[in-house]
Amino acid sequence: MATCDYGFIIGMMMTIFLASFVSADPDLLQDVCVADLASGVKLNGFACKNNISADDFFFTGLANPALTNNTFGATVTPASVQQIPGLNTLGVSMARVDYAPGGINPPHTHPRATEIVFVLEGELDVGFITTDNKLFSKTIKKHEIFTFPRGLIHFQINNGKVPAAALAAFNSQLPGTQRVANALFASSPTVEDIVLTKAFQVGTKEVDKIKAKFAPKK
Ligand code: GLV
Ligand code: MN
Repeated sequence: MATCDYGFIIGMMMTIFLASFVSADPDLLQDVCVADLASGVKLNGFACKNNISADDFFFTGLANPALTNNTFGATVTPASVQQIPGLNTLGVSMARVDYAPGGINPPHTHPRATEIVFVLEGELDVGFITTDNKLFSKTIKKHEIFTFPRGLIHFQINNGKVPAAALAAFNSQLPGTQRVANALFASSPTVEDIVLTKAFQVGTKEVDKIKAKFAPKK
């Protein structure tokens, strides 16, 4: 079996494992409820659409590496209910992360899901931090797995000399991602400098420098 197929099978198994033991999303009340992403109806999840087909459960978007020529040298490609409408109410989703050498998926949290990652290629230094500020970190290699508990800040960095890739599974159809630096330094409207200078114990110059780095490019 091709290495890539092996990776995807492991990924699917991780997703099913997460869904069956530690479901985070509410349980489903019918076989399927394919998301009508265009519906204006507001509810917990998405309204179900009529006329569904196998394509609503199908996605090829994780098959190939994404470009990593961005600020962080890493790209997350989601496979959530927004890409696969059939995931609505099923409580699972996936993502692929590609890392250039030196690339980082910067510290972030998923408010609605635990995450489990499987290394497809290369090697990653990964870690999460608990609410009592203990860091749990490890170097994980090709075909190894690491887990990030729901809601905790975590990261991955490729300290290797070759590109790396990982497959992530989540026990939510839409885990949500909040990057710590973006949330604090690039919110809209922006968080007042006084909050950031006091929180980080630095001057306004430092805060403004970071804000400028995260400001949308004009
Ligand atoms: C990895 O941490 C991811 O959120 O895809
Ligand atoms: Mn994550």
